[in-house]
Amino acid sequence: MTEMPSIQWFPGHMAKTRRLIRESLSLVDCVAEVLDARIPISSRNPEFDALCAGKPRVLVLNKSDLADAQATKSWLAAFRAEGLCAIAVDCKSGAGIKEFVPAVRELLSERLERLKAKGMSGKALRVMVAGIPNSGKSTFINRIAGAKYAKAEDRPGVTRGRQWISIGLGLELLDMPGILWPKFENAAVGEHLAFTGAIKDDILDTELLAARLCEELAKNYASMLSVRYKLSGELPTQGGQLLEMIGKHRGMLAAGGRVDTERAAAVLLDEFRGGILGRITLERSTKGS
Ligand code: G4P
Repeated sequence: MTEMPSIQWFPGHMAKTRRLIRESLSLVDCVAEVLDARIPISSRNPEFDALCAGKPRVLVLNKSDLADAQATKSWLAAFRAEGLCAIAVDCKSGAGIKEFVPAVRELLSERLERLKAKGMSGKALRVMVAGIPNSGKSTFINRIAGAKYAKAEDRPGVTRGRQWISIGLGLELLDMPGILWPKFENAAVGEHLAFTGAIKDDILDTELLAARLCEELAKNYASMLSVRYKLSGELPTQGGQLLEMIGKHRGMLAAGGRVDTERAAAVLLDEFRGGILGRITLERSTKGS
């Protein structure tokens, strides 16, 4: 197996985001945690249970168009079996988006009853939209709101005040910048976040990363790799060799006729992230299938 130094990524401004989330919680009725349906374990922030203590939460498995449909179904069943509110959406096409408002209303049914009893049925429910960088939070908000709004930036220096987005269905959304946590539980979590683009490539060795992705894909999605890159026979289990094979078959040669593995890495990561290889889920639910 390719040895990859463990990824730990917690730039200073994320501590600020954590503070912003904590300070904003009193303003909202619930939190929508936007996950990446391809990595429902790694894209869940383990700090959220403590950070959002007491606030009801809805899990939004976004990018479901890129994930294995059966695996997403199993994940929904598994989360619901745990008593969690979870929906799957695809913000590119809008599939599943209609489920969001009813899910929030059901999650907050007691609050709605209380408001009704006080004669305040018209009061909007307020939802914080949070999650890892690049999980699609702003695309999700745009989809629901049906309009373009300025994105909460994950970079330092471009953060701005809180932004409320009224979506006109008795709901107001509060967007938060993307957040990770200081220490990933294990190497796979960091890698999966990097594969899917939640961690910026410029702090990573993308060749090693792509070699690790090759190894993961060769385990469960070998035929997709073979079809896409026209590889025949059994695939090598060593990621570096597999990446070289992909580069060679794509005719990516550098000076001296050597395979340009850096280019092959960029292509593989791009095609995986864009769903060109096919619909892939890297993490399986052991329950709910
Ligand atoms: P963030 O606020 O959580 O950081 O994420 P953002 O909405 O900026 O989305 C990050 C990337 O993911 C964007 O692609 C966006 O188009 C894409 N995306 C969001 N939701 C979905 C989805 O449900 N399915 C698919 N396939 N992609 C989704 P990008 O390449 O950064 O930009 P662009 O393609 O919009 O130009």
